[in-house]
Amino acid sequence: MSERVLIAPSVLAADFARLGEEVRAVDEAGADWIHLDIMDGHFVPNISFGPEVVRALRPLSAKPFDVHLMIQPYEPYLEAFARAGADLITIHPEAGPHLHRGLQTIRALGKRAGVALNPGTPIEAIEPVLDELDLVLVMSVNPGFGGQRFIRASLDKIRRARALLAGRGIRLEVDGGINAETAPEAVAAGADVLVAGSAIFGTGDYRAAIEGLRPSVVA
Ligand code: DX5
Ligand code: ZN
Repeated sequence: MSERVLIAPSVLAADFARLGEEVRAVDEAGADWIHLDIMDGHFVPNISFGPEVVRALRPLSAKPFDVHLMIQPYEPYLEAFARAGADLITIHPEAGPHLHRGLQTIRALGKRAGVALNPGTPIEAIEPVLDELDLVLVMSVNPGFGGQRFIRASLDKIRRARALLAGRGIRLEVDGGINAETAPEAVAAGADVLVAGSAIFGTGDYRAAIEGLRPSVVA
């Protein structure tokens, strides 16, 4: 792996009363992507925000908006998130019967397409759609909430995903329970994008927190 490791703060852990300022703050603190968790209270047991919030935040950062859809169904909303300013849109295979078509739709909207794998979802789910992918997101917690403990079996899934993606220009992202201890393990297993919510927004120094997640020696 030679790609630079990217840090994607998840604004789910931000102060929602000051969401715009929070996005600006992590941008200025060195975030590579801004990770936006969209939850519907149906696919996951929590509700966050929708495309109008993404649209409102869009002018506040030039960094890629990494929109993680935890909604079922996703197909009726892909265009709304694309128009709201998403750069990457990630969908869950468990959330709809037509994964391939969903990914094609995201690319047809001019966006990069990702698939997220829940802890209980086998990696084989992405094999038939590798040609349609720009990103694979390995969930290292069950989606729905920030601040959960990293599931260690995810490391093996990251390793196997890295092998499956060899030779393809597909980013491998890990999401959930990433902190200064788990980040190096995820990177060693092959992740090249680290999502982190509470490990960044739960601190008083976003720049130090972001730098603390970057590998000290880049492979
Ligand atoms: C969980 C979300 C994550 C979450 C991560 O469903 O997909 O992006 O914000 O939060 P931490 O980093 O606190 O585990
Ligand atoms: Zn997420």
